[in-house]
Amino acid sequence: MATLAAVLATTHHPFYLKATSAPPDQQIPQAAEWKRKVEAYRETLTRAEPDILVMVGADHFHQFFLDNYPTFMIGKAPRYDATFYNEEREFGLPKYVLEGHEELSGFMHRGLLDRGFDFSFSHELKIDHSIICPIITTRPDADLPIVPIYTNIFAPPLPSPKRFWDLGRAIRDIIDEYPSDKRIAAVGSGHLSLELGGPRQFGQTGPDPDFDRQAIEWLSTGNIDEILANVTHESMTKSGNATHGFMDLILMMGIAGPIAADYVDNLDLYHTMEAYFTWYPQERPA
Ligand SMILES: [Fe+2]
Repeated sequence: MATLAAVLATTHHPFYLKATSAPPDQQIPQAAEWKRKVEAYRETLTRAEPDILVMVGADHFHQFFLDNYPTFMIGKAPRYDATFYNEEREFGLPKYVLEGHEELSGFMHRGLLDRGFDFSFSHELKIDHSIICPIITTRPDADLPIVPIYTNIFAPPLPSPKRFWDLGRAIRDIIDEYPSDKRIAAVGSGHLSLELGGPRQFGQTGPDPDFDRQAIEWLSTGNIDEILANVTHESMTKSGNATHGFMDLILMMGIAGPIAADYVDNLDLYHTMEAYFTWYPQERPA
């Protein structure tokens, strides 16, 4: 059976590459520390020696919009183009072509249907920064085949936080049952408290620093009971209009299980909290 080599849950700040590759005299004050933290986080994936990446993200209204948005979707293509024009223009993100792992995509899709998750699927998915930013930070060579999974965190009505957790648990089951000697890592990105386009965007901190601290504590300790007791669509809206991306971090913890993370780090940037979590659910590399 396949080995789940690591589970990574991370925020996906689109300005990381621009902020850390600008000439030193033009960098923001936090750039050097940010780069150090990201490179340390990258090592948590590198040392797990993965062969395939299951990537979890959400389309930021690039390919899907309010009139047509799949709740959960899996990519089944042999390769995926990545980076939309506005992401190149605004964030300076390069274009990529990522290889797809069609066999695991097919096995995952069948397994999800069998477990009560009626996924949409796509053979022509184009990937946005919710997956490319984690590639840039954790696997910049982009040399591994991927299985992309997209969730709806943007276009109401949204699935419940519990549904994201259950989906993570189902993905874990399927990885454990995949008949292969490959090492699989799951890398997913989401949000802590976040405001996009609203009055609380670009403040001195994220829109709800108390939620950010609490969320990091919950994810660090694997405390799904407290998350499900406290986090609702309404509570997330109060923490910022894009805070629902936290549900993708819940999903990633669902793949790991209700266990403490093996690696936790965060960085308080001027308008958002960055956070980085890694679990080694089946093994703990030296
Ligand atoms: Fe995002």
